[in-house]
Amino acid sequence: MYLSVRISNAIAGLYKNFRRLRLNNRVALLLIGMLGISIGITAQTPAQHSAVHFNARTQIFRIDAANISYVFGVNEKKQLQMLYWGHRISEADNFPQPHSIKEPSSFDSSINVTPQEFVAWGGGLYVEPDLKVTFPDGNRDLVLQYVSHSIKGDNLTVVLKDISRNVFVDLQYQIDEKTGILQRSARVRNETDASITVEQIASATWVLPRGTNDQLFYLTGRWAAEWQLKQQTIEPGKTVLESRRGSTGAQNNPWFAIERGQSKDQDHGDVWFGALGWSGSWKISVEQDQIRQIRVTGGPNNFDFSIHLLPGEKFQTPPFYGGYSDHGMGGVSRLLHRFEIGSILPHAPYPILRPVLYNSWEATGFNVDEAGQEVLAEKAASIGVERFVVDDGWFGNRRDDHAGLGDWYVNKTKFPNGLKPLIDKVHSLGMDFGLWVEPEMVNPDSDLYSKHPDWILHFTGRPQTQARNQLVLNLARQDVRDYVFHTLDDLLNKNNIAFLKWDYNRNWSEPGWPSVAPENQKKVYTAYVQNFYSILKELRAKHPLVEIESCSGGGSRVDLGVMHYTDEVWPSDNTDAFDRLQIQDGFSYAYSPGVMMSWVTDSPTWVNHRSLSLEYRFLSSMQGSLGIGANLNRWTKEDFATAKKMVAQYKQIRSTIQRGALYRLISPQNNSEYSVTETVAEDRHQAVTFAFLHSSQMQYPFPRIHLRGLDPKMTYHLNVLEGKVSEETPGSASGTFWMNRGVDVDLQGDFQAAAFTLDEINN
Ligand code: DGJ
Repeated sequence: MYLSVRISNAIAGLYKNFRRLRLNNRVALLLIGMLGISIGITAQTPAQHSAVHFNARTQIFRIDAANISYVFGVNEKKQLQMLYWGHRISEADNFPQPHSIKEPSSFDSSINVTPQEFVAWGGGLYVEPDLKVTFPDGNRDLVLQYVSHSIKGDNLTVVLKDISRNVFVDLQYQIDEKTGILQRSARVRNETDASITVEQIASATWVLPRGTNDQLFYLTGRWAAEWQLKQQTIEPGKTVLESRRGSTGAQNNPWFAIERGQSKDQDHGDVWFGALGWSGSWKISVEQDQIRQIRVTGGPNNFDFSIHLLPGEKFQTPPFYGGYSDHGMGGVSRLLHRFEIGSILPHAPYPILRPVLYNSWEATGFNVDEAGQEVLAEKAASIGVERFVVDDGWFGNRRDDHAGLGDWYVNKTKFPNGLKPLIDKVHSLGMDFGLWVEPEMVNPDSDLYSKHPDWILHFTGRPQTQARNQLVLNLARQDVRDYVFHTLDDLLNKNNIAFLKWDYNRNWSEPGWPSVAPENQKKVYTAYVQNFYSILKELRAKHPLVEIESCSGGGSRVDLGVMHYTDEVWPSDNTDAFDRLQIQDGFSYAYSPGVMMSWVTDSPTWVNHRSLSLEYRFLSSMQGSLGIGANLNRWTKEDFATAKKMVAQYKQIRSTIQRGALYRLISPQNNSEYSVTETVAEDRHQAVTFAFLHSSQMQYPFPRIHLRGLDPKMTYHLNVLEGKVSEETPGSASGTFWMNRGVDVDLQGDFQAAAFTLDEINN
């Protein structure tokens, strides 16, 4: 344990030295991130080994990893029948060969209650199907049976086939050794000699053990109010979470969690959860069947969907990830965060730590120009900002949101000498440079639209509905895809850009693709997203040092698909530091605070005219990836001094915040009066706590804060970053003390905040 203190001090020292040597910020952040993660990994208890087995006698597949076992088998009807998913069981525990469940009545044949891994529509199926196909002769019946399988390391592929026609489905399973999160997907192959139409295909169905009073958690919201966590008891019937918008959407996020019964707090209870890796229209249906089993089926949305497969063609679904935690909803998010850092994000398992950035969008709007941005850059650098980002307004004929999208060349009135002088200035101030783009969109008032009016999603002769005065380019078209790629590639080749903020400010309307045959037009929903990913992938390959943020007019395109290609995401345009507590809390159920951009903006805020102290605003943003979005031209000397101090503090705790284990000690979802989060570094050498008071009532003191996740035997020093703790609090004590006796922070009044760290003492 002493080693970790030395290492943590070494990290801080390393950072200073990297800066002194003027090493590129990102190299420094990468190395520090790697060091932090490798310390974490070595300090953890060794992971239980993972394994995928098939028992030929019982026809049972068994996948074990971390704390999880997942078991299914081939029953007497050759269906793939789910048997067990949950806490890891002993290797000696055996299951007999599965047997399909008898039909409960003549109204519900066996196929509706036998929990299958992947079931096609046919044979009287009334629950949500995984696959629905129409053959050219009008036949729409499909009954899948087990044919074969292959196991390669931690990957399992099980092949199913229709009972009479050559339609095959490859079910793919891949287990994550560290978290036990299972990645499932399906590939349908048309091996018949005629074309078929796939009308619905899911990535997977998860069947949960029967329980009572099961609770479904999901995320809902809208622009400026994203990431609202909802909870409901699962009753007979179906709840559908979905987006029909062409992209992920804020109205629901492709994530769910189901808790068995209602646990007493955040960190207790059995919870099954899942998330789709898909940034297009999607659907997750949560259904309680006639015998109270819960089926969760998810994948691309089947609304307005079809894929025409010629003989020999196949279609691969996006992944549906699923996991289990016996540490409640807190355990779910900690597993997901670890999985994202270890397996999903670019550069995983060593994603680069997020630099502190400045963005002037809220300060200047579209009025960006060389002189104004240079002044802001100087001020940003003076408080320790590491990345300076120019937002919307730098290109084409962009004065407001009526014109310019699509014309990705520098506006000569605003930047007469191009971006180079500004970029050089930013570099000379020790920061790297980032630029805003919205490559999938076009304003009708643009050169691009004048040249290629047919490049947008549309139906011939029908209205073209605009939103924010813009239309959506049809990225499914190869020429549009190539144009977007080359435009961005060119921008990156010609300018020394370290970061793109990739925005996407509307959803689809009239999703037509008239230039292809009618039977292929609905493929737009999947082809668009595949091309979006391919652009990101190719750009990253050609420009490996460039980082990308996924922004969608707020948090409308955040999912495990886009996160594979982007280093950070923008959770909401709502930057009010109090509203953000709830938004960020909801976000963190599914996604890591390490990728959650959070700006400190002006007070009073444009969002709701609320005034909050600069310290409060900083502490709210420091729970994620810190950015500054305020108008620095209005700041006082004192503001600069406060900001400088807090940016420096953030750099000291950044690897814990961005990589550590998050505990919601008091969630703002359930309690609008208080909110407390604690993040513990992976090797437990440091814990960072943030406490927020909305408004004191009746002279009640702030609730005592009982820490979690510390090493009981380590001695920790209390270091108050902001606010006050009670005078009875010792300067240092054991992990046991902090977790049991706790800390009293002294917060009174309205909108007050405090923060402290507990740092392992090297004695
Ligand atoms: C929406 C984003 O969320 C904002 O941060 C800003 O980039 C604007 N778009 C620019 O148009």
